[in-house]
This record gives sequence, structure tokens and C-alpha cells, in this order.
Amino acid sequence: MLLDFSYYNPTRIHFGKESLQHLGAELANYGKTVLLVYGKSAIKKNGLYDQVLDILREADKTVVELSGVMPNPTYSKMLEGCALVRKHEVDLILAVGGGSVIDCAKGIAVSAYCEEEPFKKYWLDFQPPANKIVSVASILTMAGTGSEMNGGSVITHEEMKIKGGRVFPPEVYPKFSILNPEYTYTVSQYQMVSGVFDTMSHLMEQYFSGSDNNTTDYLIEALLRSSIDNLRVALKNPEDYESRSNIMWNATMALNTVTGLSKSQDWEVHMIEHQLGAYTDCAHGMGLAAISLPYYRHIMPHGIEKFARFAMVVWNIAAEGKTTEELAQAGIDALEAFCTECGIVTSLKELGATEEMLPKIAESSFLLEGGYKKLSSNEVLEILQECF
Ligand code: NZQ
Ligand code: ZN
Repeated sequence: MLLDFSYYNPTRIHFGKESLQHLGAELANYGKTVLLVYGKSAIKKNGLYDQVLDILREADKTVVELSGVMPNPTYSKMLEGCALVRKHEVDLILAVGGGSVIDCAKGIAVSAYCEEEPFKKYWLDFQPPANKIVSVASILTMAGTGSEMNGGSVITHEEMKIKGGRVFPPEVYPKFSILNPEYTYTVSQYQMVSGVFDTMSHLMEQYFSGSDNNTTDYLIEALLRSSIDNLRVALKNPEDYESRSNIMWNATMALNTVTGLSKSQDWEVHMIEHQLGAYTDCAHGMGLAAISLPYYRHIMPHGIEKFARFAMVVWNIAAEGKTTEELAQAGIDALEAFCTECGIVTSLKELGATEEMLPKIAESSFLLEGGYKKLSSNEVLEILQECF
């Protein structure tokens, strides 16, 4: 049975090789001052920074810049942006980058005029925004998070050692996002596979929950198959437009809320990864991959039919001659083999964790109830030890 839902997504997507052409017309809908938010060096190296600046000048905008947004964006960086918004009375925050840059922009948008302490109010207490929200838009340069079409904003509070994830309501979603797959050609292989695993993880977090026959699950299976096939092609030829465009659109679809409609969801792998990230600053998708393998083996007996379906539909594993348990196991074995094939890192040690960190990560991870088994902190620790 499909659960009841209301669906609304306010983000306009401009997709394709010529999509930057739409920026000028979109800018006309906003006031004079634009805060341009970007990362460390990628958009200056590949020329996108100059192109965007030309269009902003043509549109007669006053441009204020927040540069150097780091992967796993920090709260202090976000507060820097908030101060710029207030000082220059910014009308639009334009994020040019990957998920970290877009998440930081959304955090600024909702926090700049917040009269309380924003991290506590929004990322710890999950209160709804009641203050003025500045409009956000994005130009995506790396595929994976889906931040370009959702309300997610993941911000790391360095002193508290909390990587806080928050899903904001539609007012905080990007008003428009420009997706040109060619911008992703310069993403390193490490970041590309990390991004694709992030997409796959979003899909699996939504898939491995509940047992009803649900159209959303069929959609997820198709997106998983496409992610697997297209990553294989892109690894051989990073400038293959078709595969890079499929990878980019899969990532958007995997977390633009369509694939979560009408069904229960898990998200425990993300909860553990966020704390792993708070301690190690690892690439998000790599952390997810490391945790996913022991996590899914651990919860498999509690959702065995779904894991068997995953093996058959996503990995084309024949059911003949196998028990349901053997089939389910073969599906996760196939996921592990795919990780190895694609150079996905699945050891926490390689991702910068130390043995002393593991209990702290386990204790501080949120424990959710939507998956096939609610974990205890001890079980989280066992899972971390298994992929150490
Ligand atoms: O800093 P620059 O120079 O921009 O380099 C970045 C960064 O080093 C580089 N990069 C991006 N585009 C590039 C490029 N390098 C060359 N060419 C390009 N075109 O890639 C590196 C990683 O970028 P980052 O934005 O950190 O990656 P990603 O998109 O994977 O974002 C990860 C962050 O998003 C959060 C994660 O937790 C993590 O903090 N998430 C956000 C979600 C959401 N908003 O819904 C959901 C996700 O589950 C996730 O938690
Ligand atoms: Zn993710």
C-alpha cells in the first residue's frame, strides 16, 4: 500500500550543455545584490567562475563573494556567509559547486536573519524556520548529493564534533539549479565514485525499509541500475557525455524527494557516516560505502525478502538453486565487488579513522527506527569495527 503524501518541489531545473544560458533570465527575478558562494579552486581552474561572473555583470548585479567552502562545510564558514548577507543586504545566494557549497548556501539563507543560535535551533532542535529566508540558487559542478533539488543542508560544528543534517521546507530549496554534465568532467575519479556511491546510498536508504509493493521501489531499482551501468562507462571514459549526464540526473532524482514518497525510509547509514565525517572529514560517499557493507549484512535477516529482490532486480542474480538467504547474501556480495571494481574505499582506517574514534562515533550517532532493525550504540560500534 502506498502511504498518503503531498508532493511539491519548487526547484526549476535547467539541464544540459547549454543550460548556463538560462542564468541571465533567472537573475532578472531577483534584486541587485548576489552572494556568490563557491569552493576552493575547481571553478576557477575550469573557467566556470569567469563565465558566471560575466553573466552577473551583464545582469548589472553587485557581487559579493564567499570562497573556500570546504567539503563537509563548517558552521564557522556558514556564519561568515551570514555576516556577508546582513552587511550587504544580499538578495540572492548563488552557489556554484558540489553538495558542500550548496548546503552551505542553504544554511546561510536560513540562518542570516535568525535571532537565536542557528545551529542549536535548526540542526539540533529541528525547529521550523520563522525568520526571513534569503533565496538560493545553484550551479552544480559535481553529482551525488541531490542538494540541487532538495532542502537538505549538512553542516559540521567543529567544536561540538557534530555533522548535523537538516531537511528544510521548500522555501529553502534552490529556486533554480543549472545542471551541465560537462562541468563534472574535471571531478577527480575519487570524488566521482564517491558521488555515485552517495546517490546509490540515498536510493538504498529509501529502498531497504517497509515491505509493501510500492511503485517508488521500482523507480529506485531503475535508478540503481542506471547508476551502476553509467559509473562503469564513466570510469573508462570520464568525458562520456551520456554517462556523465545520466549520473548527474540520477543523483538529482535520488534525493529530490520523489524516491522517498509514499514509503517508510531508513537513513541509519547516513546517521553513522555523518558522525564518521565529523571525526575524520572523509569524503561522504566513501564513508557511506564502508559502513553500508557491514550494516546491510547485519540487518539483512530482518528484511530478507527485500534483500533477495535487490539481488535479483538490481544485480541480475539468478534465483534458481539458491535459498532466499543465499540470494540476499549474493546481492550484498555483488555490491561489495562493485565497490572494489570502482575503487571505492571501504576501510575506515583508510578514510582517516583511528581505533580510539570508533566508540565516540558510535555513541554520537543518531539511532533511527525506519530500517529493518533499530540498532543500539553497541551494534553501531560492532559495525564500525567490522569496516575499520
Ligand atoms: O572546493 P572545490 O575546489 O570546489 O573542490 C571540490 C571538493 O574538493 C571538488 N569539486 C566539485 N566540483 C568539481 C570539483 N573538482 C573538480 N571539478 C569540479 N567540477 O570536489 C570536492 C568535493 O566536493 P563536495 O561539494 O564536498 O562533494 P559532494 O557534492 O559529495 O558534497 C558532500 C557534502 O554534502 C553533504 C555531505 O554530507 C557532505 O557534507 N550531503 C548533502 C545532502 C543534501 N543536501 O541533501 C545529502 C547527502 O546525503 C550529504 O549528506
Ligand atoms: Zn548522502
